[in-house]
Amino acid sequence: MATLINEGKAKQLFETDDENVIRVHYLNQATALNGKRKEHVDDKGIVNNQIDCLIYNYLGQQGIPTHFIKQLSESDQLVKKMTMLPLEVVIRNRASGSFQRKFDTEYLASFDEPVQEFFYKSDRLDDPFINDSQIHALKIATKDQLKLVREQALKVNDALQALFDKAGITLVDFKLEFGFDADGNLILGDEISPDSCRLVDAKTHDSLDKDVFRKHTGDVMTGYRTVLARLQTTVQ
Ligand code: C5P
Repeated sequence: MATLINEGKAKQLFETDDENVIRVHYLNQATALNGKRKEHVDDKGIVNNQIDCLIYNYLGQQGIPTHFIKQLSESDQLVKKMTMLPLEVVIRNRASGSFQRKFDTEYLASFDEPVQEFFYKSDRLDDPFINDSQIHALKIATKDQLKLVREQALKVNDALQALFDKAGITLVDFKLEFGFDADGNLILGDEISPDSCRLVDAKTHDSLDKDVFRKHTGDVMTGYRTVLARLQTTVQ
């Protein structure tokens, strides 16, 4: 039996024979309100693992250094063990979610350039917004590391926008997490899926992501399955 290292909101992490490699198992679980609401959702783990593997394969092809090694099964994948920065890096191409609420903007209003925001990862503090000087004051990352995080996040945004555009999907906003591999390289880690991205149909603006679960507006898996099917056709 493989040893469980950590259980998150929608994933379990297991040790492997290689100390620098982790097996990620995607759970059929959806959460909202920072884990305070948790529900079983059939097939979610399988669909999200497949979406995440497809996206990470694609980002690797675009030359972006990531934790991803390979897909193992419908629900499992192998990744590099990382020391994570305690930051959520949010990129926004259009106004929605907390940005829309905070600044009372029109839903899906576009920006001249992508908006970048950082949040400090802390369940206890509810992941507060954090700026560059606060990041330096708390010694979370050096100026050079933060510059690289910003550059890599924008590269990921360019690559993902191109991918989703081809699939007829608008990438509204998303969250990334970065960290260091065993050799000290700064690389992209964590899940990229409709759990961590806002995605809307480019024509109808129908929501294809976790907002459906957050707002109780329908069957969350309908959108997730649409995203997987369209991405599969796009990368063929
Ligand atoms: O809620 P907010 O508008 O700030 O979220 C921005 C983006 O970051 C959304 O795509 C959301 O799914 C993602 N996010 C996330 N995990 C969090 C907070 C936000 O994946 N803890």
